[in-house]
Amino acid sequence: MGARKEESVCENYTATTDPEKRENTVEAINRLRREKNAVIMAHYYQRDEIQQIADFIGDSLALARKAAETDADIIVMAGVHFMGETAAILCPGKKVLVPDLEAGCSLADSCPADEFAEFVAAHPDHTVISYVNTSAAVKAHTDIVVTSGNARKIIDSLPADEKIIFGPDRNLGDYINRVTGRQMLLWNGCCHVHDRFSLEAVLDMKKEHPGAKILVHPECRRSLQLIADKVGSTAALLDFARNDEAKEFIVVTESGILFEMQRNCPEKVFLPAPAEDAECQCNKCEYMRLNTLEKIRLALEQEAPVVSVDAETARKALRPIKRMLELS
Ligand code: 13P
Ligand code: SF4
Repeated sequence: MGARKEESVCENYTATTDPEKRENTVEAINRLRREKNAVIMAHYYQRDEIQQIADFIGDSLALARKAAETDADIIVMAGVHFMGETAAILCPGKKVLVPDLEAGCSLADSCPADEFAEFVAAHPDHTVISYVNTSAAVKAHTDIVVTSGNARKIIDSLPADEKIIFGPDRNLGDYINRVTGRQMLLWNGCCHVHDRFSLEAVLDMKKEHPGAKILVHPECRRSLQLIADKVGSTAALLDFARNDEAKEFIVVTESGILFEMQRNCPEKVFLPAPAEDAECQCNKCEYMRLNTLEKIRLALEQEAPVVSVDAETARKALRPIKRMLELS
């Protein structure tokens, strides 16, 4: 996994523009996935052209569930490294490929395993809950893994007086504390994309589009959660947009999700909220965007790069992931 990419991704986020090249790449991907019994799974934040050709698109929870049940020999995880690790832990007999191994995650990186282990050791009477956006090494120090799609349900299922450590996302942790009345101890981590959304910019948009509903991912700061019509995981936001009577939505999460929103509801208008950072207002995750069609083709051809987790870490990390799947 690489260091945080500082440059704007706006220019990099271009589809394969040459239609003939694109068609050839897609043809090669289709042939290779058939020949090799491979499945391509993509997160909603992937480039549109990847979502278009994926066998399965989902949020972090759905991707984990799907990986657990697939009978494919190869899983191409078009997402980021921790998603590949989760699939590799759940499917030890399968080859899990992430098209670009540099596709890390600032949130996962905000929680180094050795520091998290010290935090856990300092609070021995606490149940340890980790967001899925963590390394396998952090999951190995965890009792239950959660995603934004099931965190509330899982935490609600625990006794009211249970002491809980929650890491690494402080905004999601704050949200769960607020809606459940818990006082979980929070790790101070965040996702640089979600944490930089601007309240002022969203309020300005709302003035211009008074009928629009505001959709906010819980990795965003509390000030944004409080003005939301819906706070939820990517799948929950999609669901809300599909079923709500509103015709316009201000979307406060990584803007890759607009592709699936628009595909589900072609008659509705989805407005991506801008970032606070004046240099890059597109709110795209540079890690997610590292994957391309061409890298997927290469990954299938070379059956690399493989995501691997050492056996001991995988054994320890499997237990809290399985608990999540059982509880959600
Ligand atoms: P979900 O798809 O679970 O909402 O996760 C959002 C995210 O930030 C993934 O990187
Ligand atoms: Fe990580 Fe944020 Fe990118 Fe999701 S959007 S992969 S949480 S850096």
